[in-house]
Amino acid sequence: MSFHPIEQAPGRLNRSELAVPGSQPQMFEKAADSDADVIFLDLEDAVAPDEKLQARKNIIKALNEIDWGRKSMSIRINGLDTHYMYRDVVDIVEQAGERLDLIMIPKVGTAADVYAVDMLVTQIEDATGLKKRIGFEHIIETALGMQNVHEIAAASKRNESLHFGVADYAASTRARTTVIGGVNEHYSVLTDPDGDGNRQTHWGDMWHYAISRMVVAARANGLRPLDGPFGDFSDPDGFKAAAYRAAVIGCEGKWAIHPSQIALANEVMSPSKDEVDRAERILKAMAEAEAAGKGAVSLDGRLIDYASIRQAEVLVEKAKQISA
Ligand code: GLV
Ligand code: MG
Repeated sequence: MSFHPIEQAPGRLNRSELAVPGSQPQMFEKAADSDADVIFLDLEDAVAPDEKLQARKNIIKALNEIDWGRKSMSIRINGLDTHYMYRDVVDIVEQAGERLDLIMIPKVGTAADVYAVDMLVTQIEDATGLKKRIGFEHIIETALGMQNVHEIAAASKRNESLHFGVADYAASTRARTTVIGGVNEHYSVLTDPDGDGNRQTHWGDMWHYAISRMVVAARANGLRPLDGPFGDFSDPDGFKAAAYRAAVIGCEGKWAIHPSQIALANEVMSPSKDEVDRAERILKAMAEAEAAGKGAVSLDGRLIDYASIRQAEVLVEKAKQISA
């Protein structure tokens, strides 16, 4: 290991993160009864300008009055370039800070953006005597945010997670798509002709680089990486495919922009029984190997070594966290 220690963010379960517009209070009870691990009550892009102030009031009331159970509660504040943002933070943290676990900062672009919100939240926490420290979730969804993702990830002790906001990221990078997430037939490779002259098209994942880059920044700073929205809520298979792609490269969760996506995200982001069984067998085999003075052995015809222990521990710890 490097001599540089990585401090891990609080181990919060974050397989699914349900987006609920703050302007739609009739949706709150159903969200509270859902199986989402984290809920963010939105003040930003799902709320029209005329509804911003009422949405803020709705959220304060809901955080104070609704039983949200063991869920982690977040608010997505408006961007730092709007005049709504400071009151989103001041009013909600002052009036409902006890039940608030996280603040989600959209379109974060620089470490200084994080610093600004941190200063504000710290003052309010100190002034109101809040005991629990509110964590930060950052949406990486602009070219600037992606360029500075490492500095953003390291910018505050409050940081807990980075989220890939595919829709705004597409707009900011001028990607040629108008759908939220998913794949694009034009991001593909055409194979050379085979012996019969046939060619095939293989679709690629146009978001691979962006998500991978964000995963590295998150993990190098002890944060959770999450994949953001998948807009077509009538396509569960498409959602699961996107979630699996994110999960296999290290994401811990995915947004649900519709209640039907919660179970899908929870399923994909939980290690399967087979994966956990194999991880436990690896740990057992390596314990036996070590007792016999060996550092590497074979299991089911494949090499396992000390790195296998670390891989297996990730899965076993996640399974324990889910069943806790
Ligand atoms: C999320 O905020 C997105 O822009 O995809
Ligand atoms: Mg966005």
